[in-house]
Amino acid sequence: MMLLPCLLLILSACVSATQYRIPRLSPTDRDSEALSSPLSDDFKTFYYNQTLDHFNYRPESYTTFAHRYIINFKYWGGANSSAPILAYLGAEGPLDNDLNVVGFSTDNAAQFGALLVYIEHRYYGKSIPFGSREVALKNASTLGYFNSAQAIADYADVLIHVKKELHAKDSPVIVLGGSYGGMLAAWFRLKYPHVALGALASSAPILYFDNITPHDAYYSIATKDFRDVSESCYETIRDSWSKIETIASKPDGLSILSKEFKSCSPLKNSAQLEDFLWSMYTVAAQYDHPPRYPVTIICDAIDGASSGSGIVERIAAGVFAYKGNLSCYMNQARDETETDVGWRWQRCSEMVMPLSTGNDTMFPACNSEMQ
Ligand SMILES: *[C@@H]1O[C@H](CO)[C@@H](O)[C@H](O)[C@H]1NC(C)=O
Ligand SMILES: *[C@@H]1O[C@H](CO)[C@@H](O)[C@H](O)[C@H]1NC(C)=O
Ligand SMILES: *[C@@H]1O[C@H](CO)[C@@H](O)[C@H](O)[C@H]1NC(C)=O
Ligand SMILES: *[C@@H]1O[C@H](CO)[C@@H](O)[C@H](O)[C@H]1NC(C)=O
Ligand SMILES: *[C@@H]1O[C@H](CO)[C@@H](O)[C@H](O)[C@H]1NC(C)=O
Repeated sequence: MMLLPCLLLILSACVSATQYRIPRLSPTDRDSEALSSPLSDDFKTFYYNQTLDHFNYRPESYTTFAHRYIINFKYWGGANSSAPILAYLGAEGPLDNDLNVVGFSTDNAAQFGALLVYIEHRYYGKSIPFGSREVALKNASTLGYFNSAQAIADYADVLIHVKKELHAKDSPVIVLGGSYGGMLAAWFRLKYPHVALGALASSAPILYFDNITPHDAYYSIATKDFRDVSESCYETIRDSWSKIETIASKPDGLSILSKEFKSCSPLKNSAQLEDFLWSMYTVAAQYDHPPRYPVTIICDAIDGASSGSGIVERIAAGVFAYKGNLSCYMNQARDETETDVGWRWQRCSEMVMPLSTGNDTMFPACNSEMQ
């Protein structure tokens, strides 16, 4: 079964107080059981002395850092039989999060007698240049090496190294990845065709850039997901934002909303609530698959609220149905993850994806240039 973590971070800065609209869409949300189970002994960890800068000849370019990769030899048919290598290319997070959920590799390994290699993305997990995350993320001088071109050059080096070590010159390499990692896989195959015979890019928005994909594509489709389930649900959500603003602007309005939505700490502004809802709807749409069908869960609750319910009560009913029985629902204190921090740099420097809400979505209007 294809189960790749979909890590793409979608965000926008329209009504948001923080910049993050949508938190990390991590495998944790979908497969916490797989994540929490310990890695089997089949996985062996290695470190490669990786070159800091693959693209010029300045002395500091030759600085190295320990680059983590993990190999599963269990299914490997051996170099002598030219058995293939399936290489999972890490994306915007520590590699640990992915190993147990990349079912595609293990599901296909036996049939092909494949060696499974998993390589971490630089600046995440245990693959941090400059000795520490603190220094690596300090300023543009150190962050300048944090980009996709360097990352796929890293992957090429590691794969060439592994093939050499295993005398596996004739073993074909297939690279694979999901979401941003899938973009890397596709680009890897284009740029290093002598290293990879093929690439499998799963859920990879390789063309999600300005003047290629329409600015409002993401939110139009998310809206359509809701509208397809229920027109009245779509209308309720569309009309709720201004209703929330109106209530929030009243004296005591924020405490009314905090109570209505059972926030974990009092809402400080309406954007905190709107960010939460925005995120919930888009995550629901992005992962609207069986067995739960989250969009249907939300819309059934919104439409099914007792007949006297106002718009805001209906929205709250959608939240409770989607999240299940919790003691509180939003505004929990949360530490920033490595992905929050790292992807913030990546999406502002290089992975700048147009994410406007357009004017025919159920989300508040928002200027795409903001993101
Ligand atoms: C890799 O780097 C470590 C630490 O700097 C060093 O001890 C080791 O010899 C290096 N290995 C190779 C193969 O260069
Ligand atoms: C692979 O082939 C080499 C060269 O013919 C040979 O020395 C080696 O023993 C073989 N390895 C295995 C595991 O069969
Ligand atoms: C980044 O920090 C280092 C160490 O403090 C400093 O030498 C360098 O000039 C800084 N670079 C930029 C672009 O601020
Ligand atoms: C919801 O949680 C409360 C408090 O923990 C509990 O009393 C109640 O039975 C739960 N309801 C359901 C349907 O699980
Ligand atoms: C949406 O925007 C388009 C393009 O700017 C405009 O032509 C259209 O009239 C707008 N629709 C609404 C409902 O505001």
